[in-house]
Formats: sequence, C-alpha cells, structure tokens
Amino acid sequence: MAFLSDTLARVKPSPTIAVTTKAQELKAAGRDVIGLGAGEPDFDTPQNIKDAAKRAIDEGKTKYTAVDGIPELKKAICAKFLKENGLTYAPNQITVGTGGKQILYNALMATCNPGDEVIIPAPYWVSYPDMVVLAGGTPVEVVGTLENRFKITPDQLEAAITPRTKWFIFNSPSNPTGAGYTWDELKALTDVLLRHPQVWILSDDMYEHLVFDDFKFCTPAEVEPKLYDRTLTTNGVSKSYAMTGWRIGYAGGPVHLIKAMGTIQSQSTSNPCSVSQYAALEGLTGPQEFLTTNKALFQRRRDLVVSMLNTCPGITCPTPEGAFYVYPDISGCIGKTSAGGVKIENDEAFASALLDETGVAVVFGAAFGLSPNFRVSYATSDAALAEACRRIKSFCDGLK
Ligand SMILES: Cc1ncc(COP(=O)(O)O)c(C=O)c1O
Repeated sequence: MAFLSDTLARVKPSPTIAVTTKAQELKAAGRDVIGLGAGEPDFDTPQNIKDAAKRAIDEGKTKYTAVDGIPELKKAICAKFLKENGLTYAPNQITVGTGGKQILYNALMATCNPGDEVIIPAPYWVSYPDMVVLAGGTPVEVVGTLENRFKITPDQLEAAITPRTKWFIFNSPSNPTGAGYTWDELKALTDVLLRHPQVWILSDDMYEHLVFDDFKFCTPAEVEPKLYDRTLTTNGVSKSYAMTGWRIGYAGGPVHLIKAMGTIQSQSTSNPCSVSQYAALEGLTGPQEFLTTNKALFQRRRDLVVSMLNTCPGITCPTPEGAFYVYPDISGCIGKTSAGGVKIENDEAFASALLDETGVAVVFGAAFGLSPNFRVSYATSDAALAEACRRIKSFCDGLK
C-alpha cells in the first residue's frame, strides 16, 4: 500500500515559491542575487495596522473566534463591497479565511465533483489549476495571447463552456500578466456567461487597488448584476495593505455557498488568526491614503521596468494595467545560446541561465500556462529593478 495519496501525485509544488527559495539559498551562499520572483509588496505593513494588532493582543483578543470571521470584520467587508464595488452583501454572505488562497480553496472544495470543469484563463496564477485538481475537478485552460494583451475573448470563453462547466475563474488585474479587463471587455464576457446558467463566476479581485493611469477596476457582479446570484467575489488584504504574512482573505456571495465554505473551513483550520482579523479590520476601516501612495510608486516602477525590458534584444514587454507584474515575451531569444554556453530551448532554460549567469531570479512562463515568457515581480526597490534590467539586457545582448 502506498504511503502518499494519489491526490498528491496530481499536484505540483508552487513554482513561484521554488524560485524564491532558490534565490534565497544562492544569496545565503554569498551570491549577488536580485530576486524578482516574489509576489509581495517590498514595504512594511502600515503602522496603524500593526498598532491595531498590538492592541488586540493586549486586550486579550487571542481566543478562537467565529469560524468564518468576527462580526466587526464582516461588517467592514460589507461596507467595503458597497462603497468600492457597488455590491450589497449582508454579513451572512461574507466569509473570512486564512488568505485569499484559503478562500479560493474552500470555494472549490465545497463545490467541485469529479468531472466538473473549471475554466481558467491563461496565463494564470499558479495555484488555480492545482487547487481545482485537489478539489476533484478538471481545469480547462483558455489562453489569452500576446496579441490580445493576454486577455481572453468572448468567443474563446463561449467555445470553452460545456454542460459540465461549474466555474469560470476571473482575475483582473492578473497575476502574472498585470492585464486588466475594462468594463466593456468584462461586459462582453458576462454576456456570454448569462447564456449559460450552470456556470458560476469566481472573481479573484486581489489586485483591485493596484491599477494605473486612468484604468478603472471592475468586477463581474458589478458589471452584470444578473450574475450576482452565481458569483463569488473574492478579495483580501495581502497585496493592497502589504499584509501577506497576516493571512487574511475574504469573499462575498450567495448564503448557501458561503455556508458550505464555512463548513470546509470548520473542519480544516477553523478561524483565521484572531489578531490578524483585528489588523485587517483596521486596514479596511482606517486611513486609506497609503493606497494612493503605493499605487504611484508601483506605477513608476512598472514604467521603469517596461521601458528597460523593451530595450533588450528578443524581448517584447506590453505595458500592463495593474498588479505588480510584467510578463515579457521572449520569442526572439529562443533557439539562441547564452554567453555561458546554455542553449535557450524554452523559457525555463532562459530563467535558469539568467539566474546562473547574472544572479537575476524570475519565474519562467510555462509555470503560468503561456510560453515563451517570464514573470517579473517589480515589488522591489527602483535601484534593484534598474540593476536587474541592466543585467537582463546584458544577458540578452550576449545571446548568439
Ligand atoms: C491572483 C492571486 N490570488 C490570490 C492570491 C493569494 O493571496 P493570499 O496571500 O491572500 O493568500 C495571490 C497571491 O499571490 C494571487 O496572486
């Protein structure tokens, strides 16, 4: 009898975490490494949020809480959804979990049966397909091409839907491309979804506050209210409030789904960390000015990285609407040989040679379902970004 489960054989460890770990190991061994792999803001959690957490500890708010969130936080989340997204949810339509990741996992675990299909636009956040598989469903990828700035079209969505489609996962702005759907682009997708009542919409709005220029964020249930009853709108404080380590994510949706997700959570982790919940409450209800400051900072970094990468021979880097990633195409580098003698047969070889020869850590595109590309997370200092881009340029200049 095998000790490890069959389920484990179907999933793979997160490649983004693997790159970050390798970069950290090289750094610890004394190499001059610039990590552009991690998907988290490089600055600290705002002081008012930290203070709220300290107060919660001092006031003894350190016990179990309601499984899917304290009432104060649920109320604050309802207010956030109404104010920022025009969505009316009652507190019993809200669930809070240990990061956006657990929220998505709960939703899939609570709903997927063998044979159920989940449509995932590619390039996608690495965890979606593996979570679907863990939940017993079947991921169905729909690829957004470079020509369409990594977004999928209504015709592609229509063609992917079958009677077994249970969910359509929507993530805008996207990890890993930063691509954001405009209201009209999203409306064209929701028009398709209206025709298929068996399909539920799982909207992952994690990068809502990180949008640039005059781009306006929008979410499916807001764009098409007729989909409200079959949409789970998920979000979290990790990226917007620089709170990745605190592990708080949340969602709003129909009561029966929210209840089912709570049941999964009650038999796995129970409530998310009590102290983190009070910190998230302060994040959502306290001063919001730093959101604007961070946005400006990330926009400047995006512009720096896009302009520098577009000077590299063989690389084409579109300008994304949001998040803190760019997803350059490296078709022009494939088939060449690096200065260190490595044949660049695919994007994994590119990322590996880049790390070995220049100390710049990026994540290869195959991990996200579209090649040949790589993902840069520009959530690091301007100086490190400029130096990393200089090294990428010299690496590309050296390709023969
Ligand atoms: C698109 C997307 N959704 C969800 C998450 C998970 O966020 P959390 O850290 O809150 O679990 C991430 C984190 O990288 C993400 O990029």
